[in-house]
Parts: sequence; structure tokens; C-alpha cells
Amino acid sequence: MRSAVLTVDPVFTIGPVRPRTFGSFVEHLGRCVYTGIHDPSHPTADADGFRRDVVELARELGVTTVRYPGGNFVSGYRWEDGVGPREQRPARLDLAWHSTEPNLVGVDEYVRWCRTAGVEPMMAVNLGTRGVQEALDLLEYCNVPGGTRLSDLRRANGADEPYRIRMWCLGNEMDGPWQTGHKTAHEYGRLAAETARAMRMIDPGIELVACGSSGRGMATFGTWEHTVLTEAYDQVDLISAHAYYHEEDGDLASFLASAVDMDRFVEDVAATADAVRAAGNHSKRVNISFDEWNVWYIDRAESQPPSGDDWPVAPVLLEDRYTVADAVVVGGLLISLLRHTDRVHAASLAQLVNVIAPIMTEPGGRAWRQTTFHPFALTSRHAAGQVLRVAVDGPTVQTAKYGEVAALDAVATYDDAAGELVLFAVNRSTTEPVALDVDLRGFGELAVAEALTLSNPDHTWTATADDSTSVLPRPNATAAVRAGRAGVELPPVSWSMVRLARA
Ligand code: AHR
Repeated sequence: MRSAVLTVDPVFTIGPVRPRTFGSFVEHLGRCVYTGIHDPSHPTADADGFRRDVVELARELGVTTVRYPGGNFVSGYRWEDGVGPREQRPARLDLAWHSTEPNLVGVDEYVRWCRTAGVEPMMAVNLGTRGVQEALDLLEYCNVPGGTRLSDLRRANGADEPYRIRMWCLGNEMDGPWQTGHKTAHEYGRLAAETARAMRMIDPGIELVACGSSGRGMATFGTWEHTVLTEAYDQVDLISAHAYYHEEDGDLASFLASAVDMDRFVEDVAATADAVRAAGNHSKRVNISFDEWNVWYIDRAESQPPSGDDWPVAPVLLEDRYTVADAVVVGGLLISLLRHTDRVHAASLAQLVNVIAPIMTEPGGRAWRQTTFHPFALTSRHAAGQVLRVAVDGPTVQTAKYGEVAALDAVATYDDAAGELVLFAVNRSTTEPVALDVDLRGFGELAVAEALTLSNPDHTWTATADDSTSVLPRPNATAAVRAGRAGVELPPVSWSMVRLARA
């Protein structure tokens, strides 16, 4: 068996594990909101019509923030349609997904759902069909205590106390020609800067995310970030990055190495932000909100919106069913996000329920966990303290997209107070196991507290409502500590977590 030697030391830290790395995303898209989080006819529905079983799964997933209401949807959204008495709310065309938006869930319900689920809201404003004034109106509605028309409207709608939402996205994917109200980098940079400046006049405590590129493959990638930040550097805190991956033409090796692309994406955006910082003699750093990332089979039929006169409410859209290999990639992308904790200060797994999601539901019926649920839930639960630099010396695999890459990808977190070192590792080889040998210098005596591996001889296995548990992360009995070194065998196409605790 080929082996990889991994060296970690508690002194070599990258930065803290950030709770906001484990955010997710709820868009008015397909069945994410309606029959996803919201289903008044469901036996577990609460007074707002939210499914309690889904809330429980979101809690188990360990989601910390939820971005809302889009996504492409937000670029045509009128937030006022979604507040006040439900029977008076209008139905509207949703141009982004060729659907009808009934507006049964809006800002007030979303904030209540966030509270029930114990997550931080992350609100996006419409900078596609709307602008500075509408962003200010929404901020006034949400964050001003009272005494003005819109803050009093919120109070009349049942929320006496302001929501004090801190994280705000200045539009969504404005670089994308598919976006309603798509803009050039210069047009968007000016609008983002002016919207941000005005929003801070209402609430200086908010954190603002400018739109970066909707993919590293965009023709404008790099120049978009440079232009936008040149206009808006002082006004914003974060710049967004979005990335979706899928296996193309049976090229599993490249797919398993998707984190290589995410690594480069983060490093390129950070370098661009730092170049603008230097050129403008700015003192602060703009960091990254990786606020859409996941596996998404974008070309499949289930991702094609309706057309013509068909404008359905909550159609089945983007309902990808995830394999074990998809889950290994999701686990690998989390490793990349953690490894860049110095620059990635927030991230959102897109999305939470039904739409390219770890949680699936039947209307009025069962809810279940997809394969991708497990690496996310375990990483969110156990990554703690500081992210450590790891040096890996091991075998490589050849990929068509990224050339020769390390077969083993890993990151470590260390919680000194709890005395726990946690390794997250992916074996990207499609055929060969890897024996991982970890040099534990500097940690004192550690023992294996838990070792779990997600893999399956058939890596195309998917969970269904009838069987979501046949393939789960299973105890890895090969994990052991001997003479200051930890060892564990990692099967091909696998994701693993090894928790080592002070003996
Ligand atoms: O998450 C699905 C879609 O992907 C979002 O609406 C959009 O922002 C991105 O292109």
C-alpha cells in the first residue's frame, strides 16, 4: 500500500476555525422554500408553516448562517411583496427560474425560521432590477428599532425588536449575463460602493459582501474583482466567490480533485484583493465570502427551468441526488475552505433543502439526508480551535484537468483547551488505498477518540427516502497511535475524519 506522511505541529497555525465557514443558503428556487423548509400541511409544521423535521436536520447538519432569498432570484425580488398579511401578498413572476413566487414566505418568516433553527441570517439585496433606495428600505425595515415608516411596519407585522442582521450581500452574481439586471464590473462596482455607503449611514455595524465572480471560468474573472474592488474597496468587507463542480464525461479523477480548483480560486481572489489594497494604499484587508459552493450537475434535465406559459409554483428543480463520490468531493471542498481560513471568512453550501441540497423532503412526507450531509455535519461539529498547516509527503494521481495532484488531501484543526486534534482527509485515488502516517510532534500524548470513513465499493451509491443509511461514515478500525505517530488506512474515493484526544 502506498503511504503518505503528514506532519502537523500546534505552533503552525493558519487561523481560527470560523463558525461562518459552515453556512448554507435558502433561495426561492424550486422546492427549497415551498415544500422544503415551508410546508403548512406537514404533520410537523409550526405556526408559520415551517417543517420542524427539517429544522432538526438543519441543526444536525451544523449550519451556522443561511443566505437568503437568492441567488438569481434576488435580482428580480421585491421584498415588500413578502411582508404583511399573507392573503394580501401578490403572486409574481420569478424570471430567474421561470416560476411563480406566491410570497407566502418573506423576510419576517425567514428571520423567524433562522431563530428557530439557531442560525445567523445573511440577507441579499436586489441590485439587479433595483438599487440604493430599495436596499435602504429593506435595511430600515430590518434593523431600525422604530419610529419610521418601515421600521414601524415591521413592528406592525409582529416584530417589535429590530432584527439587527449583520451580514448583507450587495446583489448576486452581477457578472453573469444570465442575471436579471446584469452589469459591467464598473457599473456594478459604482452601484455596490454607493449602496454600501448609504447602508452604513443607517447601520455602521453591518458587514457587506460585494459580488465577485460567479465562477473561476468566467471570461471576466480577475478583472471583475479588480474593477469592483477598485471602486468599492473602502465600502465593503468581503468579496464573494461561487463555485460548483461535477463529474464530466466520466472523469472521476479530475472531479475528485475539485478542491485544487477551489484552492486556486481563493488564492487568486485574495491576490487580486491584495493588489487593489496595495495600489490604493488601503490598510484593511478585504476577505472572501465563498457564499455558493457545492457539487451541481448543472447540465442535467432537473436543472432546466420551465418555459413558455408554464410558470409553476415550486417546481422540481436542481434536485440532484448525490453519490458517495459527490460526498467525498464535498468533504474535500470543506478541507479547502478550512485551509484558507485566513482569507475565507464566510461560506455557504448551496443550498440547504431539495435544491442541490444535503437535505431532501417529500411534500407532506419524509425528510432524509443525502450522502453530502455527512462530511458537512461531521466537519461542522468537530473542526474547532485553530486550523493547522499540514505538510503532506505522499503519492500523486494524474488528472486531465489539473495535471498531477496529491492523492491525499488533508487539513487539521487543534483545540488546545479541549486537547483535541482532528484530521480531515480525502483519498482522491480512484483505485489505490493510502496508508496515512501522521507525525504528531508537539502534541504530547494523543489517542484515537474516533475515526470515521465514508466510502463504498460502489461509489455511485445514492441515498433515497427508503434507504438513506446503508452507506454512512463508518468507524475505521485501522486508526491507531503508536510512538507519537498516528496511522490510518484510507480506501480509494474516501473521506475520513480522525479525532485524536489527549490521552
Ligand atoms: O444556487 C443555484 C444558483 O447558482 C443561484 O441562484 C445562482 O446564484 C447561481 O448561479
